[in-house]
Amino acid sequence: MLGSQVLLAVTDGLEVIGTDLREAHGVAAVGYDLADAVALERLLGEFGPFTGVIHTAAYTAVDKAEEEPELAARVNGEACRALASACAAQRIPLVVVSTDFVFDGNARTPYAEDHPTNPLSVYGKTKLAGEIAAREAHPGGTRIVRTQWLYGPRGKHFPRTMLQLAQERDQLRVVSDQIGSPTSTLELAPALWDVLLEGEAGVYHAACEGSCSWFDLAVATLEHSGTEGVTVEPCTTEEFPRPAHRPPYSVLDCSRLAALRGAPLAPWEDALKTYLGTDPS
Ligand SMILES: NC(=O)c1ccc[n+]([C@@H]2O[C@H](COP(=O)([O-])OP(=O)(O)OC[C@H]3O[C@@H](n4cnc5c(N)ncnc54)[C@H](OP(=O)(O)O)[C@@H]3O)[C@@H](O)[C@H]2O)c1
Repeated sequence: MLGSQVLLAVTDGLEVIGTDLREAHGVAAVGYDLADAVALERLLGEFGPFTGVIHTAAYTAVDKAEEEPELAARVNGEACRALASACAAQRIPLVVVSTDFVFDGNARTPYAEDHPTNPLSVYGKTKLAGEIAAREAHPGGTRIVRTQWLYGPRGKHFPRTMLQLAQERDQLRVVSDQIGSPTSTLELAPALWDVLLEGEAGVYHAACEGSCSWFDLAVATLEHSGTEGVTVEPCTTEEFPRPAHRPPYSVLDCSRLAALRGAPLAPWEDALKTYLGTDPS
C-alpha cells in the first residue's frame, strides 16, 4: 500500500527504484527478500550509489503475527538491522516506517516521539525491535517515521473494506472505542521524501490531523462516497475480539514533522474526501 505510493511521489530529479515489486507504475523495480542480508548487499551494490533508502516493507498481518512471531521478527526486526548496516556502510540516510502499535494505547493525549514505548502485540514488539536495530546499526542516519491507520489508492485497508461490505449488507457494526488518525498514503508519501532529504536522524510521528474512531471513519467513508441505504452501528472492542491487542488510543503528536515541512498533514476527513475522489472503487 505505502511503498507503491512512495514510488509515485518521488521528488523531481531523483531516480527511484522499487524493490519487491516486479512492476511499479513506470519506475524501475526489482524483486528482493529484504530479510536476506546477502541479497540486500547485492541490491545496494548492483543498483547504487543511492541518495537514500525509504523502507516501507514489513510483515503487516497484525493478527497472523501472533502465530508467526519468528517470521515477523525476521522481517520487521532483522531486516531493519541489515538494511541500516548497509546504509551506514554507504553513508546514506534511511527512513524506516513504523507504527503507533509501539505504544500500549493507555494515554489520553497525543503521543510525543519520546513517550515511553510499550507494545502489547507481536507486530508492535517486532516493529519496535526494528526501530531499535536500525538506530543501533546506523545512529547518525536513521529516521524512524511512525504512522497509523493507513489507506490509499493501492492495497487492502479499512475504507475499501467498508465500501465492499456496503455492497453486500445493509447494516455494518464497527468498533467505536479505538481512537486514532486515519492517514492517507497520498499525504504520507511526500512527507517520507521530505524526512529522507531534509530531516535529521531520530523519530518523527506522521499522521493526518485530527482523530476519530473506526466507527466514525466507517460513517465518513460511506457518506463521502455517496453510499446510501446502509446503517452503521457502533460496537465495543470486547464485542469484536481479535487475536492481537489494539491500542485503544493512539493519536500521535506530529508537531516535529509539521515544523520540518512548514505544515501538518491534511485533516483526516479532507484527506479521505480527496482519496475517495481519486479512487472511487
Ligand atoms: N497499514 C497500516 O495501517 C500501517 C499503520 C502503521 C504503520 N504501517 C507501516 O507502514 C509500512 C507500510 O505498510 P503497508 O500498509 O503499505 O503494508 P503492505 O501493503 O502490507 O506492504 C508491505 C510490503 O512489504 C513486502 N514485504 C514483506 N516482507 C518482505 C520481505 N521480506 N522482503 C521484501 N518485501 C517484503 C510485502 O510484499 P508481499 O506482498 O509480496 O509479501 C508488501 O508489498 C510498514 O512498515 C507498516 O508496518 C502501516
